[in-house]
Amino acid sequence: MKHAEKILIMDFGSQYTQLIARRVREARVYCEISRHDLPLESILKEKPAGIILSGGPDSVYREGSPSLDLRILDLGIPVLGICYGMQIIARMLGGTVERGKEREYGKTEIKIIRENSLYRGLDEIQIVWMSHGDRVKEVPKKFTITSRSESNPVVSIADYEKKIFGIQFHPEVNHTENGMTMIRNFLFGVCACRADWNMAKFLEDSVRDIQEKVGKGKVICALSGGVDSAVTALLVHRAIGERLTCIFVDNGLLRKNEAEELLNRFRMKFHLNVQHVDASNEFLNALQGVDDPEQKRRIIGNKFIEIFEREADKIGDLEFLAQGTIYPDRIESSSVKGPSAVIKTHHNVGGLPEEMTLNLVEPLSELFKDEVRRLGIELGLDAEFLKRHPFPGPGLAVRIIGEVTVERAKVLQEADAIFIEELKKSGLYDQVSQAFAVLLPIRTVGVMGDARTYENVLALRAVHTLDFMTADWFGFPHDFLRRVSTRIVNEVRGVNRVVYDISTKPPSTVEWE
Ligand code: XMP
Repeated sequence: MKHAEKILIMDFGSQYTQLIARRVREARVYCEISRHDLPLESILKEKPAGIILSGGPDSVYREGSPSLDLRILDLGIPVLGICYGMQIIARMLGGTVERGKEREYGKTEIKIIRENSLYRGLDEIQIVWMSHGDRVKEVPKKFTITSRSESNPVVSIADYEKKIFGIQFHPEVNHTENGMTMIRNFLFGVCACRADWNMAKFLEDSVRDIQEKVGKGKVICALSGGVDSAVTALLVHRAIGERLTCIFVDNGLLRKNEAEELLNRFRMKFHLNVQHVDASNEFLNALQGVDDPEQKRRIIGNKFIEIFEREADKIGDLEFLAQGTIYPDRIESSSVKGPSAVIKTHHNVGGLPEEMTLNLVEPLSELFKDEVRRLGIELGLDAEFLKRHPFPGPGLAVRIIGEVTVERAKVLQEADAIFIEELKKSGLYDQVSQAFAVLLPIRTVGVMGDARTYENVLALRAVHTLDFMTADWFGFPHDFLRRVSTRIVNEVRGVNRVVYDISTKPPSTVEWE
């Protein structure tokens, strides 16, 4: 996107790179993360107001370690090098970097010894967060040492004339007590940015971008019921109105009443043109006799693509496909990522056909999840919708262990709806990151009234997590579990026993399949 003013963050593989981006945006300055080796021509095209070089796990002396195009330091654009970013500046400009005797890790007290625009307004003694093995020994010509610690005589350096700064610690981490002030000093004091980036502005800019890109063309968008696709659709609709067609593929494996609620919300309230494709039978037929989780995923993924293509053909003259790709998706899966970013297993169901010859419109591709939610609010989406727990692409198919049938889907929908309703009633829904019911392929004996029953076991799963990479099971009050269990056994025919899943991720996963 074209922004009047942006900060470019060049990623050398630090686990904190995204955090740097968040901090810059918190200061209401727009920024983007790029690879550390973004060509000079691209940088010139971007015209950043400032460049931040991230930290990274490598050692500048290792052969093949990420390097920096020296010309970047001569563009007249202010540069802030953090940790590895500082070491690479020092090394490239003729200083030396050495392996410290021991890794310096954790909170450290530093002393500011030279006036420095990064440290404006700060006391002489600062607590900062260190995490490094190598350190700068000799500083390059024209650079001044601006701070030191007890064990390290070169904690930060600066070339005042060229506005190039290097700091060994991490200002983006909360443990650096005045880290945000330092970042703000760089953005406003050194790069002369204005704090004018916000969601209303983003909305305005992206509507204009979409209009320019799409011209008089037609756009198609798959609506899944999730936040990202919903916000994408509303944004594109805001830009081009009726020329957007949304396809909602109902696979019969959604939560209870999900389809109706989705259609009501997007057709009635937002006036989107949503094609409801009820493909439950097609999906359930394709799943007949299948109990392997991966095979279920594949079948559902392929079916989705087949149906989506069929619907797209019906519309005709399509030129564009709008997708709700968000920033972390791009970082995890593509060219943006730095040299050693973590690779996460992707759950690709709902992915669209690569061979479709449509141009992509991905208006959220620069936003983080919480920014997408804020944009959703800007577009009129209600908080309840935006706060919903995530739901997997293959839907209830991976929560019905064993073969998926219409009857079993119905039993699960009913039980799940009771669990979620009770969570909302008790005010616990927002404290839990994700909660759902799982239908097991086992029957057990029970007694109801005076009669013997032989019915299904249902498991409840509820986790708390920050990033879904690790998760802990949620500690409910016993009363709550008792109430949910009683209601499910009494109200859902086909279930006579309820159990609660007390496994963490890892070694378990959130979903059972
Ligand atoms: P796991 O089970 O891997 O789940 O611990 C982590 C998060 O990912 C969701 N999930 C999926 N989402 N398609 C999706 O769109 C999938 O195939 C899929 N599998 C798991 C899961 O619900 C949880 O939020």
